[in-house]
Amino acid sequence: MQFQDRHILITGASGGIGAALALQLARRGARLLLHGRNQKALQEIAAACSNEGCPSVLTCAADLTTEQGRQRLVDTVSTSFTALDTLINNAGTGCFALFEQQSPEQIETLISTNITAPILLTRALIGPLMANADPRILNIGSAFGAIGFPGYTTYCASKGALRLFSESLAREYADTSLKVQYLAPRATRTAINSERANQMLKATGSQSDAPVTVAEAAIKLLASGKAQAAIGWPEKLLVRLNGLRPELISAVLRRQLNKIKPYAQVPEPPLAERSFAKQPLKQKGA
Ligand SMILES: NC(=O)c1ccc[n+]([C@@H]2O[C@H](COP(=O)([O-])OP(=O)(O)OC[C@H]3O[C@@H](n4cnc5c(N)ncnc54)[C@H](OP(=O)(O)O)[C@@H]3O)[C@@H](O)[C@H]2O)c1
Repeated sequence: MQFQDRHILITGASGGIGAALALQLARRGARLLLHGRNQKALQEIAAACSNEGCPSVLTCAADLTTEQGRQRLVDTVSTSFTALDTLINNAGTGCFALFEQQSPEQIETLISTNITAPILLTRALIGPLMANADPRILNIGSAFGAIGFPGYTTYCASKGALRLFSESLAREYADTSLKVQYLAPRATRTAINSERANQMLKATGSQSDAPVTVAEAAIKLLASGKAQAAIGWPEKLLVRLNGLRPELISAVLRRQLNKIKPYAQVPEPPLAERSFAKQPLKQKGA
């Protein structure tokens, strides 16, 4: 696949991996539509892409968890980016916390951002994509889409769903020119990881990559046309082993729980901020 003059929409381009990917594609002459929520960050990345030789770069700020936000992005494609041939579903959010400490609102936002939004955006854009000779969809998943990991229950569920969405869509369109691809990075040094998550990665001896490493892997995957790729050893091996002998990975993670749970424990807010402290005295049983 040649990148020169391809029309590529990257969601979450204001974040670490999305911005690195935008710059790599800009250097290869792709025409870009950069999406995120932070318009200022998008403009800075768009300027950097232009400096790298990008022939045209547009931005669109929209919250993809809302119908209006998704519609704004779809409208931008239909009015200003009509030859869309590549959709990169990269926007995502994380939540490293014990399951019982994740609020229903946090869970809803994570599922909506990481799985509902990319499915609905793909549904809305598949028509324009299919109007091109070599349409592509690249979904940015995670090693945690294939390995259930303590402290990441909801995140793993969302990325596992994205992995199967990618696989089943690719199989449904196997008799067309559409290629649906899925990339599974391991931990990457971006803002999605909280300080507690970074401490846990260090405590468990986990490796992490720079965003540019993920961007280069995404370029390689797009160029290859393969259905999926993962990044990093031993994660690639662990993913395979988890598919074949999940009980072995369960035993390893069981032994690491004492290094994971202390960091996944959400610290209690100061007493004055706790909902208990905010209740009127009579409701506290005083
Ligand atoms: N970093 C890792 O360790 C890691 C590992 C494996 C996979 N991944 C995946 O890689 C992708 C990119 O993550 P990242 O590491 O680059 O994180 P990041 O730096 O936090 O960037 C996340 C991006 O998603 C956008 N986003 C979040 N919620 C959104 C919403 N409701 N509507 C629209 N856009 C939204 C953010 O926009 P604004 O910033 O403008 O709000 C930002 O551009 C994600 O899908 C993530 O799950 C990351």
